[in-house]
Amino acid sequence: KTAVKFVGAADTDYAEEESRKESQQALQTVRHQLGKTYLPLINGEYVNTQEMINSVNPSNYTEVVGKIGLLSIEQAEQAMQAAKAAFPSWRTTPVKQRAGILYKAADLMEQRRAELAAWIVLEVGKPVREADAEVSEAIDFCRYYAVEMERLEQGYNYDVAGETNRYIYQPRGIAVVISPWNFPLAIATGMTVAALVAGNCTLLKPAETSSVIAAKLTEVLVDAGIPKGVFQYIPGKGSQVGAYLVNHVDTHVIAFTGSQEVGCRIYAEAANLKPGQKHMKRVIAEMGGKNAIIVDESADLDQAVIGVVQSAFGYSGQKCSACSRVIVHTAIYDSFVRRFTEATKSLNVGAAELPGTKVGPVIDANARDRIREYIEKGKTEAKVALEMPAPENGYFIGPVIFTDVSPNAVIAQQEIFGPVVAVIKANNFQEALSIANGTNYALTGGLYSRTPSHIQKAQEDFEVGNLYINRTITGAIVARQPFGGFKLSGVGSKAGGPDYLLQFLEPRTITENI
Ligand code: NAD
Ligand code: ALA
Repeated sequence: KTAVKFVGAADTDYAEEESRKESQQALQTVRHQLGKTYLPLINGEYVNTQEMINSVNPSNYTEVVGKIGLLSIEQAEQAMQAAKAAFPSWRTTPVKQRAGILYKAADLMEQRRAELAAWIVLEVGKPVREADAEVSEAIDFCRYYAVEMERLEQGYNYDVAGETNRYIYQPRGIAVVISPWNFPLAIATGMTVAALVAGNCTLLKPAETSSVIAAKLTEVLVDAGIPKGVFQYIPGKGSQVGAYLVNHVDTHVIAFTGSQEVGCRIYAEAANLKPGQKHMKRVIAEMGGKNAIIVDESADLDQAVIGVVQSAFGYSGQKCSACSRVIVHTAIYDSFVRRFTEATKSLNVGAAELPGTKVGPVIDANARDRIREYIEKGKTEAKVALEMPAPENGYFIGPVIFTDVSPNAVIAQQEIFGPVVAVIKANNFQEALSIANGTNYALTGGLYSRTPSHIQKAQEDFEVGNLYINRTITGAIVARQPFGGFKLSGVGSKAGGPDYLLQFLEPRTITENI
């Protein structure tokens, strides 16, 4: 019942003309910097690499956002050795000093807010408002985990007469952070600064398609005073550098966010003891979802339609929290489908940087092709209520709504990670709940209802890590809606919550007879 009082950073108010101008200006400034080279940071030095890849703008793939130097396995080993060398001094650096670096990083991100948002818009195709909210989340992670570490540093006393008992936390060692592209700043920042403030030396391997933004985070951490070797930016291929470090004998913690397939693989690989390894690795794996919103017969349909549209099509359905199934009571099914379809038609599909855009591109050609395959599969399994057109020059897919979908259809079971929604009919609330729970995932879920017994039942039986009642199911805020799932959606404590840092720490009990 207790919670640390934490006030998050405010998003930009784009109703203010000044803010809109600043955002346009930042986009122009960033555009002038496109195509630069970003190299790995090892032991405080930016190092050359043999292999480079281009990171392109998904709204216009002829535009190269940055050239990324990809780390080799030999360089990954050098980064590991530098982290090991830096650990003795970082683990004994006072928490106040470690937290101080996070506070400074947060302030720097505030100062660079419009610019960081512009990089997000251009590198991963996220519309401006959502990119701005992501910068807020990154700032919040820095400040919240700093506050949290200062709290945990106090430890606990369990003294009795003649005996002191101290319960304290120490860092675990070397943390490997493996981040996804869909929250390229917030998630990379959250996992990284949590590991760092807890006293672990940390290697950040970002997703290949969002390595420029991770390089911007690197600039922020360096400017905030992170010592050399303590934090290292190691762009590289997941299947090579990522896998090498997951399997490394000296890795203590792996903080991963990404797909179920890769998460399960990392979990299994990390469990294998390597020759000379004297510890078990701690794995935090935040994975996918097949999130449902239930709309019952008592729901306020005005609210429900807006909430489903935002939850399903925000960032083109590429949030792990996004709604991809809507389970609707028969009594209001036709009316809901009609209104949902009409509301979706009003969304502008286009380049992420345009102020009116609601649905931007998907991340890359692979994602576009995979989503298209799901759409074709859906056409064999269900009715198409809406298939919106999309521009050609980027990786665009217009929103698609399937209706009369069977709960066991492929499009109702697998994470599509695009702007595709399956609407499923339910005869009563209990059936709706069973359908909602009928996947391998348990990440987010929602209920639109004005029936207290349904709301109560959902709180008890809806199998999701984050349940939202009568609101959107995306956009969790640090220290307000700590975020994360269970079942095959993930293993570990919720990001932005009071248990998160414990995963990066080793508790110890010290008893002294006096
Ligand atoms: P992904 O699994 O393809 O990649 C994630 C990261 O893993 C990347 O950095 C990638 O390079 C790396 N990787 C790939 N293969 C690897 C290997 N064999 N060993 C080590 N690392 C490897 O995921 P993605 O496409 O970047 O992100 C989208 C997925 O992330 C979706 O499934 C989404 O639901 C999930 N996600 C979950 C959360 C959450 O909090 N639960 C948040 C955001 C995204
Ligand atoms: N934390 C992100 C959200 O809630 C994934 O949408």
